[in-house]
Amino acid sequence: MEVFHLEHSLSDHYLTILRDKSTDSHQFRSAARKMSLLLLMEATKELSTSDKKIETPLAPFIGKEIERESVAVPVLRAGLGLLDGIQSLLPNLSVGYIGVQRNEKTSNPEDYYCKLPDLKNKNIFVLEPMLATGGSLSFAVSQIKKAGGSNISALCVVSAPEGIERLNKDHPDIKLYTATIDDELNDNWYIVPGLGDMGDRLFGTI
Ligand code: URA
Repeated sequence: MEVFHLEHSLSDHYLTILRDKSTDSHQFRSAARKMSLLLLMEATKELSTSDKKIETPLAPFIGKEIERESVAVPVLRAGLGLLDGIQSLLPNLSVGYIGVQRNEKTSNPEDYYCKLPDLKNKNIFVLEPMLATGGSLSFAVSQIKKAGGSNISALCVVSAPEGIERLNKDHPDIKLYTATIDDELNDNWYIVPGLGDMGDRLFGTI
């Protein structure tokens, strides 16, 4: 699996706002949106384009347009924090949703909600801001592949080494874009130093 680690002063800046426990929910959502744009810029660097003939007010010009359609798939609920930015920047985009939970009897991940658009020949961006154990993201990617998706990129804000290892083992064919790789998981599977519970901080449910 190819791992792209954002190394950029803007991403360091917004990541610090996200990590800071004194950041309120409003500021947190705004920083998450900005972070989604930085991740998407990196993840779409090489999307194929075709020529488009246009006229500027001064001259004919051959510009470019993005050829393929894209699909964003936020993993509920924290992935929603990255969606608005992606929708504002990426043309020809449709959106699917996956909600993943652990089955209390088997302890295997399962979806409690899954609604995906046509995935064939699309660029697929899975939005999972916190890559902790990798269980949910790996399951979501498996569901996307089962539904016919390929060419999959995962956009994560904070990744733990354990999650990267799991994803690399289960899905070596995807690409991972992350703003940072943190130290470790604690006993409750939170990423350390991390930023706490992304869903709670986005939606004020602390
Ligand atoms: N999910 C979160 O929101 N935070 C973590 O640290 C790990 C998983």
